[in-house]
Amino acid sequence: MTSIVLGVGAGIAVYKSCELLRLFTESGHDVRVVPTRDALRFVGEPTWAALSGNPVTTEVWESVHEVPHVRIGQGAGLVVVAPATADLLARAAHGRADDLLTGTLLTARCPVVFAPAMHTEMWEHPATRANVALLRERGAIVIEPAVGRLTGADTGPGRLPDPAEIFEVCRSVLAGRARDLAGRHVVVSAGGTREAIDPVRFIGNRSSGLQGYALARTAVARGAEVTVVSANVALPDPAGAKVVRVESARELRDAVLAAAAHADAVVMAAAVADFRPARESDTKIKKSAGEPEPIRLVRNPDVLAELGETRRAAAGPAEGPAPYPRVIVGFAAETDDVLANGRAKLERKGCDLLVVNQVGRGLAFGRPDNAAVVLIAGGGDVEIPRGPKEDLADVVWDLVAERLT
Ligand code: CTP
Repeated sequence: MTSIVLGVGAGIAVYKSCELLRLFTESGHDVRVVPTRDALRFVGEPTWAALSGNPVTTEVWESVHEVPHVRIGQGAGLVVVAPATADLLARAAHGRADDLLTGTLLTARCPVVFAPAMHTEMWEHPATRANVALLRERGAIVIEPAVGRLTGADTGPGRLPDPAEIFEVCRSVLAGRARDLAGRHVVVSAGGTREAIDPVRFIGNRSSGLQGYALARTAVARGAEVTVVSANVALPDPAGAKVVRVESARELRDAVLAAAAHADAVVMAAAVADFRPARESDTKIKKSAGEPEPIRLVRNPDVLAELGETRRAAAGPAEGPAPYPRVIVGFAAETDDVLANGRAKLERKGCDLLVVNQVGRGLAFGRPDNAAVVLIAGGGDVEIPRGPKEDLADVVWDLVAERLT
């Protein structure tokens, strides 16, 4: 259990911080909420007190005998400010101590995470950019805001990331994994491809994209530049990641290979269709046309094998930065002979790590948890017990980070 301070700025996104608070308390942390005076205009003191089970103060003049502006910061294991408004970022960057929250930020010696939320113009203003740069320089973690609908009808960067995304960053900071992928570019494929039969029908699979998005979120939390090649995923974009949307295996191949040329690591978590209909009908196939033709299938490119092959071919005496990823990770969903099939697949596809999980009978697909074994090229494996997909993702990144240093 860690003592967490949840600082709350005065932004319309405050309601999402109630959910963030819930995620902390449900995972056993003790949370002290410190809102600014104006934040209470959006969500009142009783809500924070009831959800946290702790007293809520905004002023340094309350409970003075406890010296709260010093004690709260000193006792914290993590301070997270969500939403962090432009004003709050400015006051924090300039070392102001004009309320309990900014006083707490000055006395805290633990990791500090800011989750900004404001209008795009405010986020992009040189003053805010400079404040964010200054905070980052001093070691604070400032999460990139999400892109999307803002308070009014306008859209752009400035949305508070989903509570689950902010929680993920904090979880990784608390686990001491902070920023070990900083300066690295990683590519994650996620979801499942669709192969068109006609304009309304396709051959697809059950992959939800949950594991791929967990990989993307944890990599962002660990400081990586992340490109997600997302095949038909109905989940909110992971904040701070670049999302390239694709539908078919061939589109996924092109997007992954293009991104991989500049990447340190590629993780192929997507379920890619091995086959596609030989012919895609331009018009809807009507039942009035009589007995349907059988659908003939042809092979799709194997993206993972192609990545391995490209690396093998380029691994000669080339000089300068390598035009291929240094670490290639595959996933394998198997229903039987899981380990033997996995080991053969690892070798066949020339990857460094292969995450093998058993599927079928309600396992893995669409569930928030997963269990797997990571097979390592050259021998050895790491067993990952059933747990959240984020835990599995973190083990994968631990192994990737080891191979990058
Ligand atoms: N994969 C890929 N391109 C394909 C098929 C799969 O890049 N056309 C990748 C997946 O993203 C995954 C890994 O290969 O990382 C394993 O996929 P899987 O379907 O289990 O392997 P297959 O080679 O198709 O083996 P099989 O269907 O015979 O089990």
